[in-house]
Amino acid sequence: MDSHTVLFGVIGDPIRHSRSPIMLNRAFRESGINGAYAAFHVTPDTLEKAIAGVRALGFRGLNVTIPHKVEVMAYLDEISDGAKAAGAVNTIVNDNGRLIGYNTDGIGYVRSLKEEAEPNLSGQTIVVLGAGGAARGIVWALAQENPAAILIANRTEAKAVELAASFSPDDRIAAIPWSGLREACSSADVVINTTSVGMSPNIGDLPLDPSWLKPGSVASDLIYNPLKTAFLQQAEQLGCRVHGGLGMFIYQGAYAFEYWTGQPAPVDAMRSVVLESFGK
Ligand code: ATR
Repeated sequence: MDSHTVLFGVIGDPIRHSRSPIMLNRAFRESGINGAYAAFHVTPDTLEKAIAGVRALGFRGLNVTIPHKVEVMAYLDEISDGAKAAGAVNTIVNDNGRLIGYNTDGIGYVRSLKEEAEPNLSGQTIVVLGAGGAARGIVWALAQENPAAILIANRTEAKAVELAASFSPDDRIAAIPWSGLREACSSADVVINTTSVGMSPNIGDLPLDPSWLKPGSVASDLIYNPLKTAFLQQAEQLGCRVHGGLGMFIYQGAYAFEYWTGQPAPVDAMRSVVLESFGK
């Protein structure tokens, strides 16, 4: 670091578990960029001041995580279409003093799904489990890939109905009742778990019965702790292709890196340093 070092960071509450600093600092080093990325513990009552600090200190970019992804939008100068559709911002670009909010979670997920499991989503039938914040961004990004249908099932059905309705008049996107999951999975090409069911420490829990999936279809889980959930392990044994949540984390960071620097992200180096941090 010297007096030309360009600054980046991530804000959240809590934040000390974040692997973004090791991933992005490795990316800057790998690409020969004189940048530095740190984690900042920002509580909701100091969010506005933190964003003023980004402006005052001339940070080039910021990632935003829980619980600030929605509230931060009020302090930015511009919101991208993708972030508007997702209803949340996870990446800020400081463009000569103008703060622009993006959402790289959904598109990061889809890029990882395409690179790691299914390169062509066009014409495919996709089942999404869950209707929370993560599901919203993912459904929007999946819809850009020309699928035949995106069917959303949620424990609280009204939230699935509301999420599907927010994409109206796109009638490829529909809510289905939880009781209709078995039938929907039996003819789906991709089944995605966006709920927290199966996350550490409850690693034995299943979001749905993996035997409902069609052999050869893709089972995908947003969870990356553990790297391979019980849902994915069992689906794999039943002949499904599996896709874990680590890729979404890597590629949301890859897009952020690309928006900030204009250079392609060194994805392999980013993945290997994150895997190393998991002790793999
Ligand atoms: P995120 O932003 O990570 O999506 P969220 O907005 O809190 O988090 O959403 C969590 C999702 O996981 C919801 O779809 C939730 O279902 P409900 O709307 O019915 O609460 C789902 N979820 C959490 N625990 C669940 C469980 N034990 N079984 C089924 N779904 C669950």
